[in-house]
Amino acid sequence: MAVAASNSRTSYILDKLQSLSGIVPIGAFLAEHIWSNSYALVSPAKYNDVSSELQQVPWRIFVETAVLWLPLLFHSLYGFYIWWKGKSNITAHPWMSNWMYTLQRWTGLIAFVFIAWHLYTQRYEGHGVTSYADVQQFLTNPWNLTFYIIGLLAASFHLGNGVWNFACKWGIAVSVRSQRAFGLLGAAVGVSFALAGIAIVIGLHYGAFPLGGYVTGGGQ
Ligand code: HEM
Repeated sequence: MAVAASNSRTSYILDKLQSLSGIVPIGAFLAEHIWSNSYALVSPAKYNDVSSELQQVPWRIFVETAVLWLPLLFHSLYGFYIWWKGKSNITAHPWMSNWMYTLQRWTGLIAFVFIAWHLYTQRYEGHGVTSYADVQQFLTNPWNLTFYIIGLLAASFHLGNGVWNFACKWGIAVSVRSQRAFGLLGAAVGVSFALAGIAIVIGLHYGAFPLGGYVTGGGQ
């Protein structure tokens, strides 16, 4: 009896942590990542400045492990477990429509495969020091570009729908009105992340700098 109670408390805490980790730190990191990569639309020089700054963060590997790799690994592996167990089903979450529930899982899986490939090609093969020229070269390949677009769409949908799920699950959005407001917020997050991400990779593919014009020295 006591064991069952403590198991269900552990699984309650793990469920909550899985949910929270999707917003902080993972969602917050995705926002920062899209923000810093947006400099690709300003100029190669500015992009290289920003990325070399990030590549020289003190204690980089420790900071990344604590803030990103461990939370991402936990969120993903526990996410697969939730999926496999058929946990958090529709009866438990009446606010979530059937196909949003299914899409949340499949986009998580696509994001997982994409992130693994993204890490392997950009971090491992690039030895952690990729420049504008390297990324542009990589994205001239239409297959690489296509997979980036698919990965960005999946991650943006997953985060946008996740913002809404999170607000419902944590009791932040209780009334129909606030659930609708969080639905709109989630849609705005999903659409803006997808548009910004796709603009960045297409800009890199064509070597275009649409945001360079208003920055001193931009467009170089
Ligand atoms: C780009 C990286 C990712 C971000 C930003 C992210 C973000 C989120 C957010 C905000 C939620 C909503 C939390 C909630 O349901 O209360 C969520 C849920 C979920 N995520 Fe992720 N996630 C990411 C990657 C993944 C990966 C790789 C998987 C692996 C399958 C995954 C599986 C799940 C599952 C199954 C749920 C639903 C949990 C439930 O309904 O109880 N996520 N994610």
